[in-house]
Amino acid sequence: MTALDAGPVGALKIAPSILAADFGSLAQAVKDIDEETDWLHVDVMDGHFVPNVSIGPPVVASLRRYSTRFFDCHLMMSEPGRYLEAFARAGADGCTVHVEVGDSAALIAQARELGLRVGLAANPDTDFAAVAPFLGDIDLLLLMTVFPGFGGQSFISEVMDKVREARRVITSRGLNVDVEVDGGIDATTAPIAVEAGANVLVAGSAIFGRADSLGAARAIRAAAGGR
Ligand code: DX5
Ligand code: ZN
Repeated sequence: MTALDAGPVGALKIAPSILAADFGSLAQAVKDIDEETDWLHVDVMDGHFVPNVSIGPPVVASLRRYSTRFFDCHLMMSEPGRYLEAFARAGADGCTVHVEVGDSAALIAQARELGLRVGLAANPDTDFAAVAPFLGDIDLLLLMTVFPGFGGQSFISEVMDKVREARRVITSRGLNVDVEVDGGIDATTAPIAVEAGANVLVAGSAIFGRADSLGAARAIRAAAGGR
């Protein structure tokens, strides 16, 4: 249950979202893009916080056998506290809970206790003020660039003001917090998000929706200024 190293805080990281992959051949999909994967983004949907249902701990446990990358689990769940331990046991390295579900301090403490890297997520219409009080207690701030629940939506550029504000506060306070964006990220929007201050880029359809998923991931990294 020891979590993998997430890599240097603030460095550019590409996090392919398996939500857009073929669930019938997930292991192969994950292997195909391994070379360009810093973190593997796992979207967990409970059918309550968001309308869809996706995957849970058993799939994380299975994928763990096929990847040595950092597993970045995004819990779009109303009651993530009921499942954090199961995700940690299954092989999650980091878990991100949404600030909108409340109990953030307790959830952050619980995830920390389990040895997880801890993330806090905010929807596009949630103000920075909602997450600001927790910045000193988390490792990752996830600022959604679409409303959660579905892949393949368009990037909401208005969120970049919040990304800028978050990065400014994190820098000025000298905090070790990654800023992740999720939704509508491709080779065109990636540089916009990086310019605003994001350093972890989640991309689903722009990677797994392409015939050459590895090349697509590489193109996003290059567009974002990576190697
Ligand atoms: C949205 C999920 C995203 C999603 C992104 O609810 O949290 O991670 O997979 O998909 P794309 O990159 O297709 O917008
Ligand atoms: Zn996500």
